[in-house]
Amino acid sequence: MTATKGLEGIVATTSSISSIIDGVLTYRGYNIDDLAEYATFEEVVYLLWFGNLPNQDKLSELRERLDEYAAIPSAVIDQMKLYPSNANTMAVLRSAISALALYDVTANDMSREANVDKAIKLQAQLPTIIAAFARIREGKEPISPKAGHSIAYNFLYMLNGEEPENSAVVAMDKALVLHADHELNASTFAARVTVATLSDMYSGVVSAVGALKGPLHGGANEAVMQMLEEIGSLNRVEDYIQHKLDDKEKIMGFGHRVYKNGDPRAKHLQKMSRELGNMNGNLELYEMSTRIEELVTGQKGLKPNVDFYSASVYTMLGIPRDLFTPIFAISRVSGWTAHILEQYENNRIIRPRAEYTGPLSQLFIPIQER
Ligand code: ACO
Repeated sequence: MTATKGLEGIVATTSSISSIIDGVLTYRGYNIDDLAEYATFEEVVYLLWFGNLPNQDKLSELRERLDEYAAIPSAVIDQMKLYPSNANTMAVLRSAISALALYDVTANDMSREANVDKAIKLQAQLPTIIAAFARIREGKEPISPKAGHSIAYNFLYMLNGEEPENSAVVAMDKALVLHADHELNASTFAARVTVATLSDMYSGVVSAVGALKGPLHGGANEAVMQMLEEIGSLNRVEDYIQHKLDDKEKIMGFGHRVYKNGDPRAKHLQKMSRELGNMNGNLELYEMSTRIEELVTGQKGLKPNVDFYSASVYTMLGIPRDLFTPIFAISRVSGWTAHILEQYENNRIIRPRAEYTGPLSQLFIPIQER
C-alpha cells in the first residue's frame, strides 16, 4: 500500500453535481460562465439539489420555503448573545449550526423528504446566523429576514439594517453563484465522509464548516484581505510580494490542486472587483490585486483562485474581513447539502487505508519495567 499525499489525483466517488473537466467548471453540466452571467443564486441552489433548472413556479415555491425557514430559533439567538464578541466567526457559525440541530425535531429523520427540508432550512438560516452575530457583537439587536427577497438581498439587509443598493445585491448574488459548488473540494469531502456513516445532515454541515475554515481552503479569502491591508498601498506591492516570493512563502489566493491553468471563477470576481472600484471611485484595491497577480503569475506561474479577487469585492461591498469565509459558507452550503443528499442516495461508508510508517514487532514492556 502506497499513500498519495493529500489524495492528489485520487477519484474517491462518483457524483453528478459538478464537474471540472479540462479546466471547465460546470454545475449539473451548465458552464459556470453562463450561470454567473444569467442565473440567480436561488436558481443555482435548485439546480444543485434537484438536477435541473427550475421553471418560474418551482423557483417561487423554493423561494417561499426559504422565506418560511429564514428566521432562526430565538434560543439560538440567545446563545449567540453569550458567545464572546471577539469569537472567530467561523467558530461561531460552526457552533450555531450545531445548536440549530438541537431545536429541529427532524434532525435525525433520515427520510429523503426530511433531508431536503433540512437542506432548505440550512440554506435559509446560515445567512441569518452570520448577520445576527455580526450585529450582536456590536451590541445591536439582530434584524429579522424580510420575506419576498433574495438571499443576497436579505443577507446585506440583515447585516446593515437598511435596504441594500441594487448593485450590491447583484454583486453578492453573483459571488454566491460562483462559490456554490466545486466537486470534491475539502469541505464537501468532509461532509460526505461524515454522513457516509449515516450521521445526520447537520453533523455533515458542521464538519464541512470546520474544513472550510482553514486558510488553505475557504479561509484564504480573509488571508488575502489581510495581505492587502498589510501592503497598504499600490507602491508597496512589489517590495512586499518580492520578499514573500524570495522567502518561498505562500501567497494566499493563488494556486489550486485541480486547476493548473487558472480558476474559471477568478475572472468573474476580477471583473466585479474592477466594476465596484469604478463605482466607488476608488480602484486602489483592484489595482493592488492586479499588480500582485502580475508578479506572482509572472514569477511562479501560479494563477489566482476564487478567493483572490473575492477579498477586494467583499471589502468594496463594505463587509468586514472576518465575514468573508462565513459568506463562502452561505453559498457552499447549497453544494454541501446537494452532496449529502447524493451520498445518502447511494451510500457506502468512506473508510480508506493508511500506509503504516511506524515501527513493527515492538516488544511490550510492563509499566513497572519502563
Ligand atoms: N504561493 C506560493 N507558492 C505556492 C502557492 C502559493 N499560493 N501554492 C502552491 N505553491 C507552490 C508550492 O509551494 C509547491 O512548490 P514546490 O513544488 O516548490 O514545493 C507548488 O506550488 C505546488 O503546490 P502544492 O503545494 O503541491 O499545491 P497543493 O495542490 O498541495 O495545494 C493549495 C493547493 C492549497 C490551494 C495551494 O496552492 C495553496 O496553499 N494556496 C494558497 C491558499 C489558497 O489560496 N487556498 C484557496 C484555494 S481555493 C479554495 O479552496 C476555495
